[in-house]
Amino acid sequence: MSLIREVLINKKANINPIWIMRQAGRYLPEFRDIRKQNPDFIKLCLNEILSAEITLQPLKRFELDAAIIFSDILMVPYGLNQRVEFKKNFGPLLGDLNLNNISKLDDIDFVQKIYPVYKAINLVSKNKLTNNKSTIGFVGAPWTLIVYMINKQSPKFKLKNDFFKDNFLINRILIILEKFLKIHIKNQVDNGAEVIQIFDSWAGLLEENDLPNYVYIPTMSLVNYIKSLNIPVICFPKGIKNYKEYCQIVKPDAICIDYNVNPNLIRKEINIPVQGGMDPKILLTDKINLKKEAIKYLDIFKDHPYIFNLGHGVLPETNPDMMDYLIKTVKDY
Ligand code: CP3
Repeated sequence: MSLIREVLINKKANINPIWIMRQAGRYLPEFRDIRKQNPDFIKLCLNEILSAEITLQPLKRFELDAAIIFSDILMVPYGLNQRVEFKKNFGPLLGDLNLNNISKLDDIDFVQKIYPVYKAINLVSKNKLTNNKSTIGFVGAPWTLIVYMINKQSPKFKLKNDFFKDNFLINRILIILEKFLKIHIKNQVDNGAEVIQIFDSWAGLLEENDLPNYVYIPTMSLVNYIKSLNIPVICFPKGIKNYKEYCQIVKPDAICIDYNVNPNLIRKEINIPVQGGMDPKILLTDKINLKKEAIKYLDIFKDHPYIFNLGHGVLPETNPDMMDYLIKTVKDY
C-alpha cells in the first residue's frame, strides 16, 4: 500500500509521506515550456497526453509520494457549460451563469465535455512512475465553486456586496453541484484516483454561522459519498477558524491545514490524520530556515499520522532546488 494510504487508512504515524499542492505547475521550467506553447489553459487540461505528462513532471525530479492530476477545480463549471477562461496576470474569468442551461444538462453531456480529465488520470495511474504511490484526484468544494460561478472571478479578499442577494440561485446551484461533483468523483475513481482531496479555498470568507449551510452540509454529502466508494478523502477548508468543529462534523479521513493555523493547537485538538501547514513562502527564503521550519512541523506531528505538504499551493517564484531540498529533508527525518 502507498505511504499516503497507510496514513489515511491505517493511521500510521512516523512515516511522513510528502506531496505538494500545485506540485505540477509554474515553478517548473518544463511546465512553463509546455504552457508557452499552449496558451489556452482549459484546452491544455483537456489534452490527456500533455495533462498526464505535466502531472508526472514533478515525480521525475523529486521523491514525491503522490501524483496530483493536472486539471483545475473550474473544469466543473466548464463541464456545466459556463464559460471559463484563464487570463494572464489576472486568473480565472467566468461567463454569466445561466441556471436554465445548467438545469437542462444531463450526466452524459457533462462527462463528455471533460472526458480527457479521466483519460489523463488513467494514463497517470498506469504509469510506472506512480507504482507504490498514490494518484490523487480532486474537486472544489461546492461553496468554493459557487464563489467562482457567481462572482465570476477570484473574490480575493471580499465577495461582491450582493453575493447573497439571490439565495434561491445559491441553493439551486448547491444541489446541482452536489450531483455533478459526485459524477466527477466517480469517474476519477473509476479511472485510478486512489485518494480524493476536496479544496475549499474560500471557506474562510464565510461568517461562522453560515458554515453549516454552505460548507459543512454540502461537503459532508461528498465525504460520505467518497467513503462509500472505499476511497479516503482529505478536506482543505482554507481560512476557517475552527478546524476541530469542522472535523467533528464533516469527518474526513484527513484534514489539510493552512499556514495561518497553529499546528500545536491542531496536534492537541484533532485526532484524525493531518496534512500540510507550512507556509509556501518559506521556500522563498534559505535552506537553513527551510530545514528548520520543515522539522518544526515534523516534530510537532511526531507520533501522529501526518502527510507533509504546504499550507497552500507552491508559489510560482519557488526555486525547484528548494523544493528538492525540502523533500530530501522530510525523507531524511
Ligand atoms: O496541485 C496540482 O499540481 C494539481 C493541479 C491544480 C491546479 N489547480 C492547476 C492550475 C489544482 C489541484 C488546482 C486547484 C485549484 N484551482 C484551486 C484550489 C486550490 C487553491 O489554490 O486554493 C483553485 C482556487 C483553483 C482556481 C484557479 N486555477 C486559480 C485561482 C488560478 C489562477 C491563479 C493561480 O493560482 O494559479 C488557476 C490556474 C491554474 N490552475 C494554474 C495551474 C497550474 C496556473 C495556470 C497558468 O497560468 O499556467
